[in-house]
Amino acid sequence: RPPLRVALAGIGVVGGGVVRLLEANRDLIARRAGRAIEIVAVSARDRHKDRGVDLGAYRWEDDMGALVAADDIDVVVEMVGGADGPALTLARQALSAGKALVTANKAMIAHHGLDLARIAEEKDTPLKYEAAVAGGIPVIKAIREGASANEIARVYGILNGTCNYILTLMEREGASFAAALASAQAEGYAEADPSFDVDGVDAAHKLAILAALCFGTRLDIGAVTASGIRDLIAADIREAEALGHRVRLIGMAERSGEALYQHVQPCLVPADHPLAYVPGALNAVVAEGNFVGRLFFEGAGAGAGPTASAIVADIIDIARDEYGPAFAMPVDSLDAAPAADAGAR
Ligand code: HSE
Repeated sequence: RPPLRVALAGIGVVGGGVVRLLEANRDLIARRAGRAIEIVAVSARDRHKDRGVDLGAYRWEDDMGALVAADDIDVVVEMVGGADGPALTLARQALSAGKALVTANKAMIAHHGLDLARIAEEKDTPLKYEAAVAGGIPVIKAIREGASANEIARVYGILNGTCNYILTLMEREGASFAAALASAQAEGYAEADPSFDVDGVDAAHKLAILAALCFGTRLDIGAVTASGIRDLIAADIREAEALGHRVRLIGMAERSGEALYQHVQPCLVPADHPLAYVPGALNAVVAEGNFVGRLFFEGAGAGAGPTASAIVADIIDIARDEYGPAFAMPVDSLDAAPAADAGAR
């Protein structure tokens, strides 16, 4: 089969990881995909920034719109970030042009995923977002495909690596919240605006996406209530420890009767629960299916390598023509999300 031709939009830490991964594992990926995967064009704000990867072999486009217009591009990989603005424009244009779209952009999917999925359906083209939830953990694939025969009662977990890293540092080293956040930023885990991490917004984006997939409901970021870890002090962590618990920022979506609850909040997790052992910036997701039972996934939720791993897995699916509706069923088959106040808790 002819090579699958890919364009990368937004070459930061993650984009660099995608370039390195596609180069390092080129032959293996071609064998698994049944065809070569070739980067043909790249676009980012600053052509001359040192990204630690050689982009000289690829066509440079100053204007991201050129990626959509080009006839020699099959897949656009959006790594620009932000719920709206250039990322959303690019995504809409790429899908409307019938190109496949792969994105790591949880904010954009949380706010506009249904609209984008609708365009993808109309154009019969893939919209893939594995990297948007829990970074390198293939949790979208696992729930969408591996657990697709199950009714899922609950999905929950640690969905923000920055908060988990901060809480772990506060716990183990007695670090202050501010010092731990600075360290998370230095490690490159935090969002461009770290209030998205520490106020639970980033975890809310990921939870809303997971909930839509798990419950077959229309994604509704407005239905997620979120509070973060900004106000925690060292004494809170010590008190939790004295009670045999650890403080973790948990996102949880669960059905109760007709209602669907979606919350992100700091929780006391018993010290012997698997979620209490998730260290540093790792993420973990638990899903409870009515036939499979409890599934537990753990891995890196951020960083160049893990995020690139998820992005390239999506590209390989596209190369194999293995894709379906973005939320596992056509948008019009998704239920309206039942209101959280519609049932007894
Ligand atoms: N800022 C995010 C986190 C990056 O800390 O989990 C991955 O989405």
